[in-house]
Parts: sequence; C-alpha cells; structure tokens
Amino acid sequence: MITTRLTELLKIRHPIVQGAMAWVSWPELVSGVSNAGGLGILGAGFMTVEELRTNVRRTKELTAQPFAVNILPDNPNLDQMLDVVVNERVPVISYGIGDPKLIMQRCKPEGILCIPTVGAVRHAVKAERDGADAVIIQGTEAGGHSSHVATIVLVPEVVERLQIPVAAAGGFCDARGLTAALAMGAEGISMGTRFMLVKECPIPQSVKDRYLQSTEEETVVSGHVTGVRCRILKNKLAERFLELGEQNAPSREFMMLGVGRFRKAFIDGDPDWGSLACGQVIGRIDDIPTCQELIEGIVSGTEGLLQNLSQRCAPSLHQA
Ligand SMILES: Cc1cc2nc3c(=O)[nH]c(=O)nc-3n(C[C@H](O)[C@H](O)[C@H](O)COP(=O)(O)O)c2cc1C
Repeated sequence: MITTRLTELLKIRHPIVQGAMAWVSWPELVSGVSNAGGLGILGAGFMTVEELRTNVRRTKELTAQPFAVNILPDNPNLDQMLDVVVNERVPVISYGIGDPKLIMQRCKPEGILCIPTVGAVRHAVKAERDGADAVIIQGTEAGGHSSHVATIVLVPEVVERLQIPVAAAGGFCDARGLTAALAMGAEGISMGTRFMLVKECPIPQSVKDRYLQSTEEETVVSGHVTGVRCRILKNKLAERFLELGEQNAPSREFMMLGVGRFRKAFIDGDPDWGSLACGQVIGRIDDIPTCQELIEGIVSGTEGLLQNLSQRCAPSLHQA
C-alpha cells in the first residue's frame, strides 16, 4: 500500500491517475481504473453537454469510486458542461490549456477538487495561485498535447515550488516509473498511453495492434493535429504533416476541426490516417492487461523496488 497526500486528497487506494483522453477514456476505461483503486478521468474535451451527462451517468453506474471529468476551459458550452459536473456530483474536475476562472468559481464552492494538467513550471505555479487542489505536471515525452521540457526536469522543480500535491506525467508505464516519480517528490503518476493498452479501453483492436508494434522512436510532435503541439505515432497521416512543415501548421482555432482525425483513429479504427496520439513510452508497452492487473502490478513492484533500493544503495542502514 502506497499512501501519499494525493491518495488521501482523492480518496483513492493507489497513487495512479489515468490521464484524460478524448475519444479514448470512455466510462468503461474510467470505471475500470477507479474500480482498481486509481483515479479514472472521463475525456470529455469534445463531448456535447448531453453526451457528457450520458457518459457521467454511465460511469456512475459502473463504479462507486471517485472519478474525474476532463473539460476544455475554452469550451463554448463551458457553463452548461459545469452544470452537469456540479449537478451529477462529480468529485474531481481536470482541465488543461486555457483560463480556469469559471471552473474555479463553479467547482470550488461545491467541494469539487480542481486538478489541472500543465506542461511548464510557471503554469504549475499559476495553477496553485489560481486555487488548484493538486497539479499534474506533464513532460515532453507525453502523448497528446506536449510540453517542450522533459518530465525529469519538470517534476523536481515543480515539487520544490508548490505546496499542493503533484502527480508526474509523461513517460510512465510501470513500477520503475512510479518509484522514480516518488523519489523526485511527486505523490503519484498519471499515465495516458499505458492506459490505452488495457482490456477495458474500448479503442479498436486494429489501433491497439499498431501501438503494440511501435517503438519509442516512432512518435512525432506536430501542430497540424489540433493547432497545438501534439505527440502522435508516425503513420501515413503524421508523415504527411511532416511534409507540410511546422511553419504551415494551423492556428489553435483549428482545434475543433482536428477532432475528426481522432475519431478516424479511435472510433473508425484507421491506424494509417487517424491521429494516433501516444507518448514515447509506447515503445515500452507490449501487453494488454486489465486495469487491476496493471495497477496492482505497478504498486507491488514499487513496494519491492523501494525496499531493494535501500538495501542496494544504503546497505549500512540494514546492518545494525
Ligand atoms: C490518445 C490521447 C488523448 C489525450 N487526450 C487528452 C485530453 O483530451 N485532455 C487532456 O488534458 N490530456 C489528454 N491527453 C494527455 C493525457 O491525459 C496524459 O497527460 C498523457 O498521455 C501522459 O503521458 P503518457 O502518454 O506518456 O502517459 C491525451 C493523451 C493521449 C495519448
């Protein structure tokens, strides 16, 4: 059992969060993670208000454990989306790029925990100042919208600057990663890519198979997917983006148009022409466990590693 301020804050058994993934983290995956003792996050970035309500209710049917909803702060229907979060008593809200003012105003008085994912030290500092309850700091290794800076540089810096609990994201898939994150001062990890390759994740098998075959050298970062730097697998679509060159990448207003390519990957199952967002850690993943097998394996592996490390690196402590 690994207890941290993050597990206590979120009322979860294990310090493992499933990163929000639009078009991927549907109720089956979210509830699978939460039932296994982690925190599942519903990827509601591109849902309509009605779709959000339906998916929150479905998640609540599948789990009695805490889970979160991920929303874009500049969603044109933000107010109505937040009505759903508040009225359905969702315990945690997750969000990324954009102004979190309305989210804070609506969620804090209701006791809903506010946990942004950020990719820069200065954004983490601002998030705490804005009133966040915890922060997920995500490095450049991560899948999806990606930072410029590596996780191993960001995490210790953010931990030193913030009082609130910090979870580390970008490049984690196993016990070695959780052990390293704890050693850097984080109080948990958040994984996106690893949770795409679990039994409960409902993306098409054709896409899971492509991911399983891929190495850590086969991702690229492109602004062409959504108008914001996004790490995706190098497939035919990504090669086309590379040919177009980053100077011709569209503006952020393009974001909603880019969504069709996620649908092509994660609903239609086209591994060549869909946007297969994933992190570099894809090269370390070669199995499809259940959420419970994955989470329990990471936690027990971490407990073992923590003991081994102290015996291996500080044997004198064990001689007395
Ligand atoms: C397919 C995919 C979709 C994602 N969609 C979102 C999203 O909708 N909102 C968000 O805040 N982060 C999104 N992310 C980022 C993840 O929540 C998570 O922070 C990231 O995957 C962590 O890095 P890792 O992939 O190395 O585990 C996405 C990542 C992937 C792989």
